Amino acid sequence: MNHPEIKPRNIKFALAGEDKRNWFGGNPVATAMLDGASVLFPIGETFFIESVVHFRDRVTDPKLLAEIRGFQQQEGIHSREHRRYNKAVEAFGGNIAELEARLQAEVDKLERDNASPEYKLALTCAFEHFTAMLAEHVLAHPDFLEGAEPEFARIWRWHAIEEAEHKSVAYDVWNLVKPKGLKGYLMRVRAMFKATSVFVGQSRYNAKALLAARGYGGFRNTVLGIAYFSLIRPGVLRKTLPHYLAYFKPGFHPWQTDSSHLIDKYKSAYEA
Ligand SMILES: [Fe+2]
Ligand SMILES: [Fe+2]
Repeated sequence: MNHPEIKPRNIKFALAGEDKRNWFGGNPVATAMLDGASVLFPIGETFFIESVVHFRDRVTDPKLLAEIRGFQQQEGIHSREHRRYNKAVEAFGGNIAELEARLQAEVDKLERDNASPEYKLALTCAFEHFTAMLAEHVLAHPDFLEGAEPEFARIWRWHAIEEAEHKSVAYDVWNLVKPKGLKGYLMRVRAMFKATSVFVGQSRYNAKALLAARGYGGFRNTVLGIAYFSLIRPGVLRKTLPHYLAYFKPGFHPWQTDSSHLIDKYKSAYEA
C-alpha cells in the first residue's frame, strides 16, 4: 500500500484564555479526559523519537529513512505544542509537572532495568498503535469534536492527521530489527500489555486529578463520568476495541487499516 507523505505542519495553536475553560462542549469530564491524555504527550513523544532514532543506522531504504525524518519532525512539533497546551490548561487547575512525573518515573524505570532498545521500540510501536487508533477514531467521527472550542478541535485534528500519517514508521523499523520468530512476537505482545496499562491507567489518573483540581471531583464525575465517556458516549474505548485487538495478530501491520481517505479529508484545512 502506498502510504501518504509524512509532512510536518509547523503550527502554533492559540489555546490560552479563560474562555477556553471546559473547552470540550462545556463538559468538564470530556475536557479532563482529553487534557489528561495531552499530559502524556511531551514526555511520551520524546521517548518515541529516541527509540526509533536509535536504530536509524540499521535502515538502508531511503524511503523509510525519509519517513523517520518526517516522524521525528512531526513528533517533535507535537511535543512542543502539547507542552504549550498543557501550560494553557494548567490555568484551570491541576499540577501538570506532578502528573508528568508519574510518566517520567516509568521511563526512568526502563533505564534502571536496563531495558533493551528493542523492547523500548516495541513499547513505542504499541503506543503508536494507541495514538493511531484514537486518531482514526477522531477523524472517522466528525461529530466527536462537535461543540469543542475551535482551536482545541483544530489541534486535536492536526495531531490526529499526523499520527495517522506516520503510524507505521516505528513498526517498519521494528520489523527490521525485532528478535526473530516467537521471541519477537512475545516481546511485541508484552510491550502492548505494558503500554495499555500505562496509557489507560495514567490518562484516567490524570483526568481524575484534573477534575478534582478544577472543582469537579466526586464519584459522579471521576468514576461514572469517565466510564460513561469511555464506554457509552462517545464510547471511545468500546468503539476502538476491535482495532486494538488487531495488534495481537501475528502478521499485524498498521496499514492493514487504510486511513488515507481520512487524512485526505482533513489535511487541506492545515495547508498554508
Ligand atoms: Fe504525536
Ligand atoms: Fe506518533
